[in-house]
Amino acid sequence: MLRGKNIIIGICGGIAAYKTPLLVRLLKKRGANVRVAITEGGVRFVSELALATVAEEPVYRSLFPMANTEGTDYTGHISLGEWADALIIAPATANTLAKLAIGLCDDMLTACFITLRPGKPVLIFPAMDGQMFLSPSVQRNIQTLFTQGCRMISPESGELASGQVGCGRMPEPESILKYLEDELCSSTRHSPLYGKSVVVTAGPTREKIDGVRFISNYSSGKMGFAIARTAAKRGAIVTLITGPVYLETPFGVDRLDIESATEMQAAAQPFFKNCNIFIAAAAVSDYRPVAPYEGKMKKDDDQIELTLKKNPDILAEFGMQKTSAQLAVGFALETQSGLENARKKLASKNLDLIAFNFFDRKTSGFDVNTNILTLIESNGKTTELPQLSKDEAAGKLLDAIEKLLPENQH
Ligand code: C5P
Repeated sequence: MLRGKNIIIGICGGIAAYKTPLLVRLLKKRGANVRVAITEGGVRFVSELALATVAEEPVYRSLFPMANTEGTDYTGHISLGEWADALIIAPATANTLAKLAIGLCDDMLTACFITLRPGKPVLIFPAMDGQMFLSPSVQRNIQTLFTQGCRMISPESGELASGQVGCGRMPEPESILKYLEDELCSSTRHSPLYGKSVVVTAGPTREKIDGVRFISNYSSGKMGFAIARTAAKRGAIVTLITGPVYLETPFGVDRLDIESATEMQAAAQPFFKNCNIFIAAAAVSDYRPVAPYEGKMKKDDDQIELTLKKNPDILAEFGMQKTSAQLAVGFALETQSGLENARKKLASKNLDLIAFNFFDRKTSGFDVNTNILTLIESNGKTTELPQLSKDEAAGKLLDAIEKLLPENQH
C-alpha cells in the first residue's frame, strides 16, 4: 500500500525524536518515498545526517536554505507540501501544535502542513510531558486540528522522560506505520466519530477485603473492548479505562488499567470536561469493604462480618456534569424488570442512551462473545437488537450514538 507513496515525516523537538530514523527506515522498506522536515528543536534530539542517510534525501529545515541563494529552488517552501501523499508529524510538541492550529508558518515543517493538497491525510502524534498534554492550551489546539480534519493520535501512557509515569509517550515507529496504513486504506474520515474523544470504561472492578482477597464480578471486559476497538476504527480518539481483564488492547486505543471503583473514578474524572462521549460499559462494584484488612485475614472466627460502603457512581457523576455537547451512554444488566429499571437509570443518571443487556449467561451478558442489547434513548426511542457478536453489537451501539451527536441533531 505504501509502495511509491510520497510521505513527509515532520519531526519536532521532543525526546521521542530519537526514534524517527527507524520510522524513516520502516517506510523506506515498504517502498515509500520519504522526505523529512525537522524543526530547529528537532535537530537537538536527532541528527540530520542520520535522517538524510536513511531517507536517501536531504533533510528540510529552514524556509531559506543556502541552496536557494544559489538559484536552485525558489519555491521550495511550497513544493514539499505539494509533493506529499501524507504527512506524519511525530513527535509533535506543544509549540508546533500551537503553530499548526493558528496557521503560523516559519519553517519547512509548518509550511508543508499549510501547502498540503486538500484531502491528503495528516497524522499528528503529540508527545510531551503528561501535565503539558492535559493543559487547556494544548487540548484546545488539538481540538482545533481535529476539526480541521487532522488525525490526532493520543500519546500512550507509560514512563516519561521526566521519570514520571503518565500519558505522553509517542507510539513506537511500528505502530505509527500501522496508523498510516490504516489511514491510507480506511474510510474513517466519513464517520461522525472521526476525531471525537471517546472514553470507554470496561471490565469488572476489584474491591479489597484484605491483602489477598477481593469482591468482584464475572465481567470479562469484552463488550467495552469491542466498543473501544470499533470507535477507534471509525477514527475516534479512544481512552479505555479498564478493570483487570485478560484481553489485548485494541489497536489505536490508549488503555489505562485500574483495579477498584475509586481508582476508575480517579482515572475517568480528568476526561469529563473535554471528552465528547463517555461510554460506561464497566461492571463497577456497587460497594466496597469499609476497612480492608492489612495483610491476610486469619480464619479464627466461625462467622465474620464485612461492612460495605457504597462506591461512587462514575457514570452518574459524568451525567450530572456533562454539557449539552457531550453524550453519556450506560449499560444496564438486569435480572428482573429489565427494561423498566434500564429506563429508570437512563433518567436518574441523566444519560442520552442506555443499552439494556439481556442476561442469560449463554448468549448474552457477562463473559460470552455475543450479546442481545436493547437501546433506549432519552427521547424514549427503543431499538431491540438481535443476538449479535459483541463487535457487531458495538457497531450498532456506535451507529445510534453517531446519530445523537449534536451536529447530527437537526
Ligand atoms: O450499577 P448500575 O446498574 O447502576 O450500572 C449502570 C451503568 O452505570 C453502567 O453503565 C455502569 O458502567 C455505570 N456505573 C458506573 N459507576 C458505578 C456503577 C455503575 O459508572 N459505580
